[in-house]
Amino acid sequence: MPHRDSIILNVDDEEAPRYAKTRTLTHAGFTVVEANTGYEALRKSEDLQPSIVLLDVKLPDISGLEVSGIIKQRWPHIFVLQTSATFVTGADRTRGLEGGADSYLTQPIEPAELVAAVRALLRLRDAEEKLRRLNETLEQRVQERTADLAAANARLREEIKQRRRAEAALVQAQKMEAIGHLTGGIAHDFNNLLTAVLGNIDRIRARAVDPKLTRLAENAFMAAERGSKLTAQLLAFSRTQKLATQPVDVNALIRGMSDLLNQSLGPAITLTLQLAENLPHALADPNQLELAILNLAINARDAMTNDGVITIVTSQVQITLHEDDALPGSYVNVAVIDNGSGMSPDVLARAFDPFFTTKPAGKGTGLGLSQVYGIARQAGGSVRIDSEVGQGTRVSIRLCESSDAEKITAVEVAPQAGVVSETILVVDDDADVRTLVGDYLSELGYRTYLAGSGEAAMKILEDITPDLLLADFAMPGHNGAEVARAIRQKLPKLPILFFSGYADTSALEAAVGKAPLLRKPFRPNELATAIRTLLNQGSA
Ligand SMILES: Nc1ncnc2c1ncn2[C@@H]1O[C@H](COP(=O)(O)OP(=O)(O)OP(=O)(O)O)[C@@H](O)[C@H]1O
Ligand SMILES: [Mg+2]
Repeated sequence: MPHRDSIILNVDDEEAPRYAKTRTLTHAGFTVVEANTGYEALRKSEDLQPSIVLLDVKLPDISGLEVSGIIKQRWPHIFVLQTSATFVTGADRTRGLEGGADSYLTQPIEPAELVAAVRALLRLRDAEEKLRRLNETLEQRVQERTADLAAANARLREEIKQRRRAEAALVQAQKMEAIGHLTGGIAHDFNNLLTAVLGNIDRIRARAVDPKLTRLAENAFMAAERGSKLTAQLLAFSRTQKLATQPVDVNALIRGMSDLLNQSLGPAITLTLQLAENLPHALADPNQLELAILNLAINARDAMTNDGVITIVTSQVQITLHEDDALPGSYVNVAVIDNGSGMSPDVLARAFDPFFTTKPAGKGTGLGLSQVYGIARQAGGSVRIDSEVGQGTRVSIRLCESSDAEKITAVEVAPQAGVVSETILVVDDDADVRTLVGDYLSELGYRTYLAGSGEAAMKILEDITPDLLLADFAMPGHNGAEVARAIRQKLPKLPILFFSGYADTSALEAAVGKAPLLRKPFRPNELATAIRTLLNQGSA
């Protein structure tokens, strides 16, 4: 087997044995280089890096033992095969091996023994080399595997974080949903009461001749109106009010509000607007959006001492992932940013809850952010708060972009006072509201029929054909939409006006198409206007 890559350095000052060894090894296929002295051996070891140095112990300059020590120290990968005369003792051999030699042969050496010893050392060298390479790649493999594991671990952590965020968002959404149902229900009943209270007080006020009585009625009316504002806020939160959503130029809306905002904020606070150019129209109820921005600005004002700065920023944002509670898509973003006190995590977690407030009694009702939340969600958008204690707060309302920018305008017709003779059928399960509406319509000159349920209404229809149906949308048993559908089968052209404080407008539209809706509590003249508009449309 030739060993072309393996150079053997044969070191011996005596020519005959050196020659014999070279010859043997050359025959066996090895490349052999010779050296006569210790120093020459060291020089050639450095230059040629032989695989094996065949080293005679007795040399003219430095001893073979010393040469062996130096070689093993400087080039540990070179194997040293020490040879010596017959007369050396076992102790000499031990010294040789301990000095660094890898193997030891005593002269005279049998050619076959020499070749076998050299081959054995080369095998050893190969095995060592393999082991070294294995070690190296092992380390590399361990490193790769460790990196893989670290990456997997990081991915897992990120997934856990995302999952926690999603879970928290879900819990928050469920909580808001539950509170929304509750407040919506309460607000609905409360609205019925207020409608009756407001309507009756209004009529007392109109009839009172005693100025003292007028003043009392005035006070009661104002208190009831405050109550009605409160229920409006609750309804906004519970997303059960009827929104007049339409394409809105948000920048124009904010510019139009700046006087109002400056007045509400006071001179100590600076208001800055950063409105994006070419902002698409957003889908919103402009009145409600104004209210929401005003709420946010007032919150910002309350969170700041003097010299505060409030910035209102509009921008267009793209959401690619399902984020918070917003679906992917293009949105118009309105952010109200302050450099005030910020919110602690506890406050932040509850900020949207209705009636959650940190303000002293009489200063806040805790309905501002609930209302903002409801307004945005009902319009198909979302709200998020970023806040840090001591740093400030940013509340962002995201609204869906509206593709068509045409505006829907409301028609308003003044009620015709005087003698009218149309017939109106009123269906409402709430007796107070029913009586109030009936009385008021009679006063206006309408012939009025009252029904407490859908069934009762159908009965009345067997005898009369009204000019208009006024129906409460949310009633136990058959709701207003079902009643309307049944009546429409009999009288397909009959104009219908719904009123409700609690209207699932999509259910309403599904049942009877786009139907006019009057929101409770309504003022008597609002009712009159709405009825007159519908009757005029019907006769036109
Ligand atoms: N910009 C803000 N900076 C710091 N805290 C805020 C900010 N906005 C709201 N908060 C905190 O969230 C709470 C709830 O706000 P929310 O607007 O719902 O109610 P409110 O301002 O207390 O009362 P209301 O708006 O009904 O008058 C506040 O009491 C306040 O603790
Ligand atoms: Mg507020």
